[in-house]
Amino acid sequence: MMPKTPHLETIAVHAGMGGLTESGVHVPGIDLSTTNPLAGVESGGDSYENLATGGTIVPGESAVYQRLWQPGVARFETALSALEGAEATVAFASGMAALSAVLIATVAAGKPHVVALRPIYGGTDHVLATGLLGTTVTWVDASGVAAAIRADTGLVLLETPANPTLELTDIRAVANAAGRVPVLVDNTFATPVLQRPLESGATLVLHSATKFLGGHGDAMGGTVSGPADWIVRLRQVRALTGGILHPFGAYLLHRGLRTLPVRVLAQQATAAEIARRLVGHPALVRVAYPGLPGQDPKALLGHQSSGAGSIIALELAGGFDAAVRFTEACRLITHAVSLGGIDSLVQHPASLTHRPVEANARPAAAVVRLSIGLEHVDDLMADIQTALSAALAEPVSAAFADLVEAGTS
Ligand SMILES: Cc1ncc(COP(=O)(O)O)c(C=O)c1O
Repeated sequence: MMPKTPHLETIAVHAGMGGLTESGVHVPGIDLSTTNPLAGVESGGDSYENLATGGTIVPGESAVYQRLWQPGVARFETALSALEGAEATVAFASGMAALSAVLIATVAAGKPHVVALRPIYGGTDHVLATGLLGTTVTWVDASGVAAAIRADTGLVLLETPANPTLELTDIRAVANAAGRVPVLVDNTFATPVLQRPLESGATLVLHSATKFLGGHGDAMGGTVSGPADWIVRLRQVRALTGGILHPFGAYLLHRGLRTLPVRVLAQQATAAEIARRLVGHPALVRVAYPGLPGQDPKALLGHQSSGAGSIIALELAGGFDAAVRFTEACRLITHAVSLGGIDSLVQHPASLTHRPVEANARPAAAVVRLSIGLEHVDDLMADIQTALSAALAEPVSAAFADLVEAGTS
């Protein structure tokens, strides 16, 4: 049994684990059933209708079909709701599936206009800029939100810290400016360990669960947490469009939540130390990390969030060429997309995660993004120092540099 007001670490370990002792097991099993026996034609039909319209399972009734309801997914959702302080959560096969469901629900409600704060994850930028799901977008910074709201605005969307510049946005100020329009915060970088956007006035919280929540680079998933009425609509979208998380992914992501506070805080401590040691390095123009002096002008750390996290962006003094040489010279740190796992990763946003973003809004070509893992700080620093030395060597192919400068969208 959980204490009445458990701490976050206790919630992380125990949430979503209800009923195990009664079943004589210590961890939940992985139910791979794609279909479930029905007790009768009428009760089966009733269950189908309930679940396909966004309802939750009635105890004792059939789950009908995995696309509608899955017990391991529901356990993971319960656990994340507890961590985010949300009424409910709905889990998808990826972060982009989660975002797509929100956009589909927004368009279906007759309010297809989205106000979005740049910079934001490149995939999010891409789906909004293309209007693929029937939305239109107005790009703003925090000060432009109120003026951008129209009668058909159905959503305000932001990410803080932002991907990949690590700028912080005042969620409360944006929520006030948005008025009645729901505000969705992508909380992938901060996680509920550092920041709970619903407490700052956000309506919905989105995660690429693929990142910190899973934490081991072996499970893809996405989530949206928020008020029950939104979650019913999103569960209906999920049931009808088929974006549900796989049971094995749900198992791994739920297990990941149990160590989330420990991982996030340990990774953050290492990242803060690396950022501190890199300031003033001659190969760098800038170390972007919200925990460094001067990088939190609105004093949001310790107020909106309890820490700066474990993502760092470095701007190389030698421009694009140096950024490429740095990235390719990392050895312990893997050159790969994604972030938030126990092993450190490096990537070049302008040519990878943010490649589809229109050229005038794309991250600077001299910027690389580091996701700091659980390795020892001195080993990571040694790798970074070697890569910074390599950044001062010969130039890369001019053709590739032109491609990144000109953009591909
Ligand atoms: C901040 C952020 N949001 C959303 C996504 C999309 O999530 P997924 O890759 O799980 O679809 C990503 C992926 O990199 C991300 O970094």
